[in-house]
Amino acid sequence: MNMTTVRPSLHAGMVGMGMIFDETYRPFFERVQRESLFDHRFGAIDVPLVAVASRTGHRAEAYRATAGSKIHPFESFSGSDGIDHLIRTGIDFACVATPDDRHFTVAKKLLEAGVHVLIEKPSVLRLQELDELVSLAQSKCLLAKVVYHKLLDPDHKKLRTLVADNVLQHVNHGYCSLLEPKQVSGSQFAEWITGRNPGTYVAVHYIKLIDFTFGGRLKTIAATGQRGIVGPKDGPTWDSTQLRLIYEYDDGREAAFDIHTSWVTPDNFPGYVEQEVQFRFDNGVWNGHSRKRGVECTVEGETPISRKITMNNHYNGTFLEPWGERSQRGYGVEVLERFARELAYVKFGGDSAEQPVRYAEIQSLAYNDLAADRQTVAAVQALEAILEHQAAGEPDCVVRVGTPDGKLVLYRPGNSTPVVLC
Ligand SMILES: NC(=O)c1ccc[n+]([C@@H]2O[C@H](COP(=O)([O-])OP(=O)(O)OC[C@H]3O[C@@H](n4cnc5c(N)ncnc54)[C@H](O)[C@@H]3O)[C@@H](O)[C@H]2O)c1
Repeated sequence: MNMTTVRPSLHAGMVGMGMIFDETYRPFFERVQRESLFDHRFGAIDVPLVAVASRTGHRAEAYRATAGSKIHPFESFSGSDGIDHLIRTGIDFACVATPDDRHFTVAKKLLEAGVHVLIEKPSVLRLQELDELVSLAQSKCLLAKVVYHKLLDPDHKKLRTLVADNVLQHVNHGYCSLLEPKQVSGSQFAEWITGRNPGTYVAVHYIKLIDFTFGGRLKTIAATGQRGIVGPKDGPTWDSTQLRLIYEYDDGREAAFDIHTSWVTPDNFPGYVEQEVQFRFDNGVWNGHSRKRGVECTVEGETPISRKITMNNHYNGTFLEPWGERSQRGYGVEVLERFARELAYVKFGGDSAEQPVRYAEIQSLAYNDLAADRQTVAAVQALEAILEHQAAGEPDCVVRVGTPDGKLVLYRPGNSTPVVLC
């Protein structure tokens, strides 16, 4: 007897086909196309990439041409109604990797249409937007998740483990820095850079790391920044930013964190991005430097421009595996697969009557759920508002998070009328 079994599948869509698609989504979709996903709770399932949407469609066509049979045949939509066409293909979930100020509109359309979403960091730029997406997702029992891949970095997992096990006790203060090369602001993001800042783009990784690892209540946000390279010295586009967050913990004690970011580091810097953290505790110090994990490699004529001297082989590296296979792997790819597994578990991980229980279980995961992204979005919203006031000639504003209402209020020096942000 010839029996053909059709495997369950999750039809995927992709919105945005830029740098991050190429670095992490592409290797994820190609691997799952080749190997499917397996888990004893849901068996083997297929996750074909069936449709993509982007601004012009050019990079989608270039990808189709180079990927060949490595990827499922996909439809490509562009222009203002690209998302509507994407939705009509009947996708189960979509990944949103557009510039960050466009995440909200795209994610809202997808959720309204009953599509689960995975959004690149930062999820959205305002708490009003976050709350709208969260209630939309919950009312329709949809997953709405955000990608913070640094939480899956083995070094950050170790930090969190030591904190959870009370080996490192009570964080007091910390410093994080992430410096991107000039080519990011100068060419890669040229289309959407005006009015933007590197803090929203990358400090958010560390805001989330601090928020997720140490918990506590975000109380105060202060920030400043520099201009003059990416845009005019008095314009709205920032070269670098310095953000300060104050948290309070259950015992009433506080901690302060400074996060410095830039996207004007020279392109011939030895590492692609410079990432450093230092956290000080009652009984210890944690120092991390992603570029100094151990490897320095020089190749005449290649490093440090086309190939970096210090490479992050943990995030997303291309490898020749010991068993002969070529692979691209790392925590940047792992975090996407994890989302697909979570969704597959909700949909196919047992009796359909129990699906709401599985949904609640996955929705409660604070590392990626939109509902748990409030303090991170609050910090981003405050940073953007402080920089906006600085650009308008009103520097040194401070944002406080009210208790118990959680309202974000901006205070301006010399002005007794506060501005309620949310
Ligand atoms: N996790 C990380 O470390 C990391 C790294 C880089 C970027 N990102 C995030 O990924 C997102 C995209 O960044 P990128 O570096 O890939 O940017 P990019 O500029 O290289 O690509 C953006 C893509 O979005 C598409 N796009 C723009 N507007 C659109 C719209 N309205 N509808 C549909 N498509 C649209 C463009 O056509 C392009 O394909 C950002 O949110 C960024 O913060 C995350």
